[in-house]
Formats: sequence, structure tokens, C-alpha cells
Amino acid sequence: MCGIVGYIGKKQAAPILLDGLSKLEYRGYDSAGIAVYNGEKINMSKAKGRLKVLSELTHDGATLPGMIGIGHTRWATHGAPSDVNSHPHFNETKSIAVVHNGIIENYIKIKKMLEGKGYKFVSETDTEVIAHLLDYYYNGNALEAVTKVMHRVEGSYALGILFAEEPDTLYAVRKDSPLIVGKSEEGNLIASDVPAVLKYTRDVYFIDNEEIAVIKEDSMKFFNIYEEELTKESTHIEWDVEAAEKGGYEHFMLKEVYEQPKAVADTLNPRLKDGKVVVEELNMTDEEIKAIKKIMIVACGSAYHTGVTAKYIFEGLSRIPVEVDVASEFRYRNPILDEGTLVLIISQSGETADSLAALRMAKEMGSKVLAIVNVVGSSIAREADSVIYTWAGPEIAVATTKAYSAQLVAHYLLAMKFAQVRGTVDDAEMETLVADLKRIPEQIEMLLGNREKIQKFANRYVAAKDVFFIGRGIDYAISLEGSLKLKEISYIHSEAYAAGELKHGTISLIEDGTLVVALLTQDELFKKTVSNVVEVKTRGAVVLSVTNAGNTDIEKNSDYTIYIPKTNKYFTNSLAVIPLQLFSYYIALGRGCDVDKPRNLAKSVTVE
Ligand code: F6R
Repeated sequence: MCGIVGYIGKKQAAPILLDGLSKLEYRGYDSAGIAVYNGEKINMSKAKGRLKVLSELTHDGATLPGMIGIGHTRWATHGAPSDVNSHPHFNETKSIAVVHNGIIENYIKIKKMLEGKGYKFVSETDTEVIAHLLDYYYNGNALEAVTKVMHRVEGSYALGILFAEEPDTLYAVRKDSPLIVGKSEEGNLIASDVPAVLKYTRDVYFIDNEEIAVIKEDSMKFFNIYEEELTKESTHIEWDVEAAEKGGYEHFMLKEVYEQPKAVADTLNPRLKDGKVVVEELNMTDEEIKAIKKIMIVACGSAYHTGVTAKYIFEGLSRIPVEVDVASEFRYRNPILDEGTLVLIISQSGETADSLAALRMAKEMGSKVLAIVNVVGSSIAREADSVIYTWAGPEIAVATTKAYSAQLVAHYLLAMKFAQVRGTVDDAEMETLVADLKRIPEQIEMLLGNREKIQKFANRYVAAKDVFFIGRGIDYAISLEGSLKLKEISYIHSEAYAAGELKHGTISLIEDGTLVVALLTQDELFKKTVSNVVEVKTRGAVVLSVTNAGNTDIEKNSDYTIYIPKTNKYFTNSLAVIPLQLFSYYIALGRGCDVDKPRNLAKSVTVE
């Protein structure tokens, strides 16, 4: 999704803007631009393509001198990626420049109104209406013009705004799209996400919905849409710059795959005490936990896949019925929720538009909302009734790995906590579960040590056209994630199937040489899935099996086998997903794909 950076201070703005934008590249973009006020007027440079095109165009910012500016990486929604559609956008006299993240839903109506008054538009974007509308309302009072625009536009927006007539002030506005303000000795910054400001400061303010930040070189004020001043507390960001850098790895994805033992341990350790699960942030009494009638898990993409796994675990351990849905479906299907339903929203970024909308809907319908979120202070974290943070640290690669693994263990903890309180698991079993849980980080470490074997296998299949992932129960949930990982970064067509469902149609696609990845980590389903493996083998498939250590029987029917260390049946996803992540990574690498920034994808999907 689009990225915004803004700076006002004692230093040259353009290099800071370019540097900040480079830290937001992971969000996905197709063009970039910056605007800087030089003491007389606002100058602007924009270019389609990678940020380095803009850096070359501006000689690393040298052609745009000045100490206040805004910058943007665009992920096209309205109008194709092009120089002219890139942000910032100007009003006609070039005295107002705007960068925008989000979608202005009523832009056509506003555009017609403005055109009727003689305004001329140069781009196809929805954003340009904001520049002209600000011009329309501006009467010497920028704050007033900004609030009038906020009252007029519908949709989602994070905005950075420069007024040539107020060259000592940077304006930042937010509704349903993330925006933060960073406070530093050398000047102040705005950004869509924390990594963009970390080089300068760790003290940030999260702008809330329908709030405006009025930022000067050495001060900042916050207002609501009625121009009333607000008091805000800053948040100190604990993780440092290195956490958001590659640290010697070729790609962020590989680095993050390798950070999984730590991400999992950091998420687990503070919540395991004296052989018991303690989740203080849960904010629920034992009576409230006992009163849960249903759990509704809502999320998108990989986060949704952790929910599919969690259904088996919540139902198995705590005997609470669970429904899982993708947020974009859930929010429009008039679901049945009430006080007895606990809604779980899962999100790495905490800003996913559909998940946030689902959260708000669930709250309105009277359900308690618990969020599992990675980004501290994000919208979902702030709006949920309680939040359990996954301590995975900043995740930069578009394809999630360590946040996924941290989400999985957060689910395990919750399911065990509920089982503890509801008495559905006895003390001896709980002890075994806790012991197995504690071993997961070192078991992941072991699997990572096997990366060369997986790399060799992946190298043989870089030319694969279709890959099917099959499994039953939790293995089906792992298949969903394995398949998504592969297709999103390697662009190879892939599907995940419940193994028993294959013969109801999909098996007709299996032919000589089709690659099938079979997941067989659930001992009680092992024989059943082996039958499915045999079915695809007899139709010519090449089979890669992922199974538990000791299940050597599978080698008769499988071309390659990867063994995962023994763990509890509920936790196998945490281990089996590791070779699948590495497999996808090496295939994508072999195909020359942009592993960290796959085409058409964005890290934080802040629009519907
Ligand atoms: C896939 C991936 C996405 C995200 C999804 C939800 O690798 O990263 O499918 O899982 O967009 O994002 P969050 O977790 O930020 O809500």
C-alpha cells in the first residue's frame, strides 16, 4: 500500500524523505514522488517505477532543496501507475501539495463540483480532488481548510499536506489509514509506519481517526475535526533500526524465516509461568471464559490460515465451537454474533481494512473482541477490547513468515488457557502441552539447519507450472499457507486441497510430473492421507511429503520426504510450515522473482 513520509526541521528534507520512503518500500508501490518548499515555492519530482528512479532524477534529493517536504510511494488504485498519477498532487497554482494513502469514495461527485467551478484536473487519481478542495476552502487558515475537506470527503485517508503560504507547518491527517508522527531533536516527521522514522527517533505519536497533527520544526499540536486541541501521549518504540534492516541476509524474507525461533520464544515465554499459561492481557475473568459459547475468528490471508489451524486446537482442547472466516466475507454476510461470542481478529499489521471493519462490526453487535496483533499501537490493537501482542518484531518482507509463526503460538496459548479454565484438559496433559510448546523454538532452529536439502529440492522444481498442497485437519490448514507462500512469491499456480476432497474434481488436473506436496503430520489421519498420496502417484504426480520423524513408511510412496521433529499433534503447523517457507523462498529465488516485494502485493492492505 502507499507510503507517506514528511519532514520539517533543520536539515535538508529531500534526502530524509527518500530515506524514509526506502524504509516503506516493503509496503509495495509502483511509483514515487516528493515535494519540498524551497523558501519561495513548492518544487516537486515524481517518477513511475522504483524509488531509485526518483533518487536518480533528483540526484539523491539535491535538486529539491528545502527543509520542509512530503514524500510518497504509490500503489495504484485509481489510475494506472504513471508519472502524472504519482503523488504528491498540486492545486492549480501549486501552492498546496498533498500525499494520500487510502481511497476517497466520493471523489467523482467532488470532482464534478470542482470542475463546475473551473478547477482543472491533470491526473486520474482520487487524491487530486483533495488538493483542489483544499484550495477551494483555503481562506488564509489552513487548519480550517483541512477540517472542511475532512467533513466533505468520504472514505479512508492518511494525508500529508504542505501549504506554500504556511511554510513553517506540516499538516498530517488520518482516517482509517495509518499515520504516525515522530518527534526528534533535528526536526519532526510523519510516516505511514514506524521504520521510516526510526533512524531519527523512537518517540512517536499515533494519530487517531479524524485527527489532525499540526507540526512545526520544534513543536506539534493535535486537533480533532472540530478544531479542538487534543492532548496526546507519545509511545516509545523499543525495537531499533537493525530490526528493520537485512542484517547480512540476501532478503528480508530469509532473515525473517530465521528470526522465527526468537519470534516464537518471545511470544511464548512471558506467558508460560510454573507450567501454566498466563495471559494477563486477556482481560477476562474465569467466569467470562467459561461463558464463551462460540469463538469467531476473522482475518485475511495468512492470518486467516492461522485461524483455520486454531479452529482445530480450540475445539480439540477447550471444546468451544469455532467459526473461521475471511474478513472481506464476514463483514458483508450479516453474521450471527452476540454476547456469548468471542471474536478473535488476527493481524500482523493491525491495519488491514477488512479486518478492522470486521472488528468494528463485531463490537457494534455486542461481542467482545480480542485481537492478536504484531504492530504495537496499530488501529486493530487500539480498537479491540483486549490485545495479545505477538512479539515478532518488524516484519518487512511482504510474505509473512515470523508473524505467522508468532500468531500460531498465540492461538496455542489462548486455547490452552481456555482449556485450563474450563477444565477440558487435565493437569498431566497440560504439563505435556507446555513442555512441547517450550521446545518449538529449538525445533524450528533444527529445521532451519536443514535448509540446503530443501534448497536442492526446490532448485529442481523452479520450472513447475502447478503445485498442489494436500492434507487433512491441521495438515489442510498448513497446506493453505504452503500454497499461498509459494504462489505469492514465485508466481507458480498452486492450490491447497483437503486431501479427501481431491477426488471430487481436482484430481483430474494431476498428470505426469505434477508436483504434489503432501502434509502428513496428524498421526490418526496418516493412513487416510497416504491413500490420497497413492492416488496422485498412480496418476503420475511427483510427491514431496512432509511428515513426523519416524513415519518412514511414506518413503515407499513419496519421491522426497522431509521429517519434522516430534511434537504435540496440535503444534505440528509450527514445524511443518518451516520447510514450506524455505521451499517457496528458494523456488522464487531460482525464478529470479522479487522475493521481498512480489508484484501487485502490498504489506499492509489498508484499503478494501
Ligand atoms: C501473505 C500475507 C498476507 C497477510 C494478509 C493479512 O504472506 O502476508 O496474506 O497475511 O494480508 O495481513 P495482516 O496480518 O497485516 O492483517
